[in-house]
Amino acid sequence: MRSSTNGDGSDVLVIGGGIIGLVTAWRAAQRGLRTTVADPEPGGGAARVAAGMLAAVTELHYGEQLLLGLNVASAARYPEFAAELSAASGQDIGFRACGTLAVALDSDDRAHLRELHALQQRSGLESEWLSGRECRRLEPMLAPGVRGGLRVDGDHQVDPRRLASALLTACERAGVVLRRGWAERLSVRGGRAVGAVLADGTELVADQVVLAAGSLSGRLAGVPEEAVPPVRPVKGQVLRLTVPPAYAPFLSRTVRAVVRGSHLYLVPRENGELVVGATSEELGWDTTVTAGGVYELLRDAHELVPGITELPLTETRAGLRPASPDNAPLLGPTALPGLLLATGHHRNGVLLTPVTGDAMADVLTSGELPEVARPFAPGRFASAAPVPQEQPA
Ligand code: GLY
Repeated sequence: MRSSTNGDGSDVLVIGGGIIGLVTAWRAAQRGLRTTVADPEPGGGAARVAAGMLAAVTELHYGEQLLLGLNVASAARYPEFAAELSAASGQDIGFRACGTLAVALDSDDRAHLRELHALQQRSGLESEWLSGRECRRLEPMLAPGVRGGLRVDGDHQVDPRRLASALLTACERAGVVLRRGWAERLSVRGGRAVGAVLADGTELVADQVVLAAGSLSGRLAGVPEEAVPPVRPVKGQVLRLTVPPAYAPFLSRTVRAVVRGSHLYLVPRENGELVVGATSEELGWDTTVTAGGVYELLRDAHELVPGITELPLTETRAGLRPASPDNAPLLGPTALPGLLLATGHHRNGVLLTPVTGDAMADVLTSGELPEVARPFAPGRFASAAPVPQEQPA
């Protein structure tokens, strides 16, 4: 093994340079911590695939009330976060306060939406029930058969690829050291995490190590069993289409629906990109884009917005959401001193980026998670058996 090449080491080593790892590193560096990120392709990861909905209200699910608090807190931080990050990086991250319309195509979908509306109201969230005609008045490209919908003016969007790029630049400008390599093994000495060894044998030494490697977070060698994050990959296939200027505005806000039990969303960007997602598949490490996945997304999108078949299809892609057993993130210290987690964000990684950065910077500097993040400490799964990890293909 080569000796450390980061001199006396860093205060913080972040393993994983996706948006969660980068926001953690940026915020840590802003607090004066000497920070290193290890990732072969920083700025990559699940954000390359994500649509970027900030859907705290429309993605509310039964049994996830605790997560709702964190989602709402992060959504509230987004305008300020976007402005600060844009100033720090000199890049626009595509934050768009456009709102969302969730619609129903048949009576089952409408019953589902009515339930969601009731749950939102019980949870103190703002949403308004609209008739089919009112939905089409807002979005004329919607199918004539739309039976009703929920207008949620507070669920916005950001462009995750721009977000990742801006975070990378902000990290560099804040003095974060980027090590382009895989972290293969956690270094543990005297019962404490003290760094990691990269694939080329280089050891990076740090006082604290943050594991933020998305769906791969459970695969780092050398992590004692009781500290292994219970994270599994959940595949999502996503399409990108382009709205030619002659068709604009095709949609003015995010439109979503549950079609035959599958969640579908169309996220229109100001630059003409239209993101259509997403499948949700428990298929381990598989990231194949399948004809069936693309067909189902296009079929459902066509039922919702028939004019979509006129648009150029510019990209198909699959990514892996990092999911924990309760679908909420894992934030903060583990059973191994010196090792912290920032992973398991599942469907909400983009939404939870601001609050995760703040929470991780707090815990790295003070040892304490802020109140809003405390329910998401990894210790809540202390008695859970680790998720069996197969080799990625
Ligand atoms: N939050 C959208 C998705 O995970 O598909």
